[in-house]
Amino acid sequence: MDVRRSLSNHAGSRRSPHEILRRLADRVTPDTTTDEPVRELEERVATLLGKPRALFFPSGTMAQQTALRVHAERTGRHAFAGHPQSHLHVWENQGYSAVHGLRFHPVGDRNALLTRDDLAAVGEPLAAVVIELPQRDIGGLLPTFEDLAAQTKWARENGAAAHCDGARLWEAQTGYDATLPEIASLFDTVYVSLYKGLEGVRGAVLAGDAETIAHAEVWRRRLGGAIVDAWPLAVIALMGMDENLPRMREFKAHAQAIARAINEDGFAHTTPEVPSTPLFHVHLPMSREEAQQAARNLAEDTGNKLFLYARSNPDPRRCSFEVSVGISALEFTPREVAELVRGLPKRI
Ligand SMILES: Cc1ncc(COP(=O)(O)O)c(C=O)c1O
Repeated sequence: MDVRRSLSNHAGSRRSPHEILRRLADRVTPDTTTDEPVRELEERVATLLGKPRALFFPSGTMAQQTALRVHAERTGRHAFAGHPQSHLHVWENQGYSAVHGLRFHPVGDRNALLTRDDLAAVGEPLAAVVIELPQRDIGGLLPTFEDLAAQTKWARENGAAAHCDGARLWEAQTGYDATLPEIASLFDTVYVSLYKGLEGVRGAVLAGDAETIAHAEVWRRRLGGAIVDAWPLAVIALMGMDENLPRMREFKAHAQAIARAINEDGFAHTTPEVPSTPLFHVHLPMSREEAQQAARNLAEDTGNKLFLYARSNPDPRRCSFEVSVGISALEFTPREVAELVRGLPKRI
């Protein structure tokens, strides 16, 4: 299938080995060493987030499980709280339990944002509270800064660490008046992804105080994550920082324009109605199977890929899909997206 354009920032065209090698070749010079790009990346993330230290990990899955393990060992507690649709719980085969012997305490409504009151009802000692910014699986909803501060304050007052699943923190920041260091200062540890809004190849960085990160480094080695020669991942992520970070507000504005066009059209609708970040969900009056078939046919016929996969709904006649606006999605006008979405039923 020859996909020319994609509404996702995981667009295959920007991820093809040829394209990645071409971009790497633009940046790597005869003086580039094997360890310097990773060091530069770690220092840059630490500075951007205003944290004393940051450490590269091959994946966010490993970075977050490590952070929780470290918080558990420090506090002597084994439970952590988070949103019922936390990535850690839904998408990682419960690695926190299988690998680290930790317990997840889901908090609050699965279709709404976590609140401070939800946390106050937990009732067991917690090693950490995990807050995902934005909450991806409910459409990229974002708590207000005040709510966020109240939740992390509650965590600390109750002896738990506050950990940020900031896979899309660069994107989430566009929903606040606060700066990245102001947001990060609410948390003890912050994980950021190198391949979502930054459109790198893979990889993650965990930031925190020097002692926590030194402890995390031990676990990274134990888990097989202390890979030397991670430089290609670091170089491509540094390029993403140069090129994509300054454009996050542009991505968000385009996401809002696409959502507006879809909502005005009336066939489908978005959550949130006005996206707070470049990520949002589109809800379709079609079954998941129909939507996936239609999207496959659309991609085959026109080279336009609307989504990676459709999400099921308790009502089997409906489904939804995620849009994450990055450089790829800028190639679509909002009206065009609304028309492509409306045209899906005709492509089954
Ligand atoms: C919110 C969130 N957290 C964590 C992760 C895990 O990242 P990785 O794929 O690097 O393991 C993802 C990946 O999609 C994510 O969306």
